[in-house]
Amino acid sequence: MDTLRFITCGSVDDGKSTLIGRLLYETKLIFEDQLEALMADSKKFGTQGERMDFALLVDGLQAEREQGITIDVAYRFFATEKRRFIVADTPGHEQSTRNMATGASTADAAVLLIDARKGVLTQTKRHSRITAMFGVRHIVLAVNKMDLVDWSQARFDEIAADYRRFAADLNFASISAIPISALEGQNILDSATAAMPWYRGQSLLQWLETVPNAESDVTQPFVMPVQWVNRPNLDFRGFAGRIGSGKIRPGDSVRISPSGVVSRAKEIAAWDGPLAEAVAGDSITLVLADEVDASRGDVIAAAERPVEVADQFEAEILWMSEQPMLPGRAYAAQIHSKSANLTITDIKHRLDINSGARLAAKTLGLNEIATVNISFDRPVPFAPFKDNQRLGAFILIVKLTNETVCAGVIHFALRRAVNVHWQVLEVTKSARAALMRQQPRCLWFTGLSGSGKSTIANLLDKRLHADGRLTYILDGDNVRHGLNRDLGFTEADRVENIRRIGEVAKLMVDAGLIVIVSFISPFRAERDLARGLFAAGEFVEIFVDTPLEECERRDVKGLYAKARRGELKNFTGIDSAYEAPEKPELHLRTLEAQPEVCVERIVEWLEN
Ligand code: ADX
Repeated sequence: MDTLRFITCGSVDDGKSTLIGRLLYETKLIFEDQLEALMADSKKFGTQGERMDFALLVDGLQAEREQGITIDVAYRFFATEKRRFIVADTPGHEQSTRNMATGASTADAAVLLIDARKGVLTQTKRHSRITAMFGVRHIVLAVNKMDLVDWSQARFDEIAADYRRFAADLNFASISAIPISALEGQNILDSATAAMPWYRGQSLLQWLETVPNAESDVTQPFVMPVQWVNRPNLDFRGFAGRIGSGKIRPGDSVRISPSGVVSRAKEIAAWDGPLAEAVAGDSITLVLADEVDASRGDVIAAAERPVEVADQFEAEILWMSEQPMLPGRAYAAQIHSKSANLTITDIKHRLDINSGARLAAKTLGLNEIATVNISFDRPVPFAPFKDNQRLGAFILIVKLTNETVCAGVIHFALRRAVNVHWQVLEVTKSARAALMRQQPRCLWFTGLSGSGKSTIANLLDKRLHADGRLTYILDGDNVRHGLNRDLGFTEADRVENIRRIGEVAKLMVDAGLIVIVSFISPFRAERDLARGLFAAGEFVEIFVDTPLEECERRDVKGLYAKARRGELKNFTGIDSAYEAPEKPELHLRTLEAQPEVCVERIVEWLEN
């Protein structure tokens, strides 16, 4: 007997719980017998049978649970004589697309509930797009509450036609529609119904019993992302992970990505001993015949079907947070068992949920879907999602709050990631630095407008110059006249402003200079991103700490007054946030120390 995994989606009050209740109730006798097999099966598809297939999401969502952010996906089990079922029941309210994405990612089929009185709603369309995006192949419309529309065939036909028109470009393998009344039990188990003699199709349960489930993962090539390396003693090194697809036997040739190293499976260990064969879903420890290296996030695959590696992709994403998506910001990403930082470099288009039209967008809000270009900060083994769901899906997490803000699927690698290589240059940073007899540094000043950044930066520059150092100042007001002329002061523009400055400062440090960066740089995420560009010790964060009241009192450029009058929008400290550094290398309190004293402190720090 096989197992069908499906998801139910609907809006609030359209009768989803009544329907699931009825399916569970009517099939409960058989359920008892099958319970154990179901539990075993469900374990293969997610931790404790309650999480999604891609292990990566398990990690991210696990983290969320620990943070107390709840994800409400109830997995329920039932069975008939023909099949076992695992149903992901997700709440219908607007904030819960993350639950839907979670459920959809493991499902073969989706039951879309529609209230016959209301017809196809925006919510129905949103759910359909998400199910399609995460690879669900078969859709059945359960047109519910037929009793409330006088069992009208015309109404049913109208809804079904409406939906088919909408879903034409979503590439589902099949779309069916069944008129039901969950409350009265019409067309749920049996299809003969006195109330709707005009309907001669399957009942919902018959549909569930016969709809094809996804092509078995076992027939695909073998891939296993490495979750950790087991090394209890010098003679034993095993690579632990859950098989994403395919199967493996001792003796099979494998290749490790990204290193490309080839070896053979020597032993396959499970918790209860060695195995003659392991298949998709099994958690194993793989011992290879040769002394080869692999680490967490590498992928071991069938040697003749190696896994590709790239760092830039086109992807489709679902934004799941109230906080808007900011292109250029570095988010923590999980793709299978690999962690990396990811930035969304470009929104190609946002999808209009209703019409499917491609719209221009600079940012994304809650529940929006878009096609984007993404860039990882290191190469990752991957497969397009359509070829391998395990290797082609990722999530994004905001480190500070641990919130999963995005789920995405990879379309394809951008050629330039594969074709543009880093040019190795022979005159190195240290050679240049030696020529100048100095240690290159990035001295990064952050603080409110009017806090004194430029004043201190200038004095410091003069002082270092007098000492024979080669320096350069990058100042917000100046750079915004040239390189960053196209940027304003929205959150998104500030993120991009700082990203570019980080890159420029990095080049200058590479050239051997001591770079003094003086920007408000209000967000921790971008300052951290900048810090990450440099070698340890090269980046010095200097917090110029002046209370807002004092900056406003000084108001050197008259901008605070303007902002208070409402003539200047998004002004830092007034109606745009400033996130103070948590652990700056230097914390200068300008109320307590004159600029000259601050400069002395910096010089002292550098000399030490
Ligand atoms: S940042 O936030 O993106 O780092 P940046 O340092 O480049 O800002 O520019 C800040 C300077 O721009 C301020 O010192 C001020 O002179 C000017 N400015 C103009 N509009 C704003 C605004 N809305 N918020 C902050 N600074 C502004």
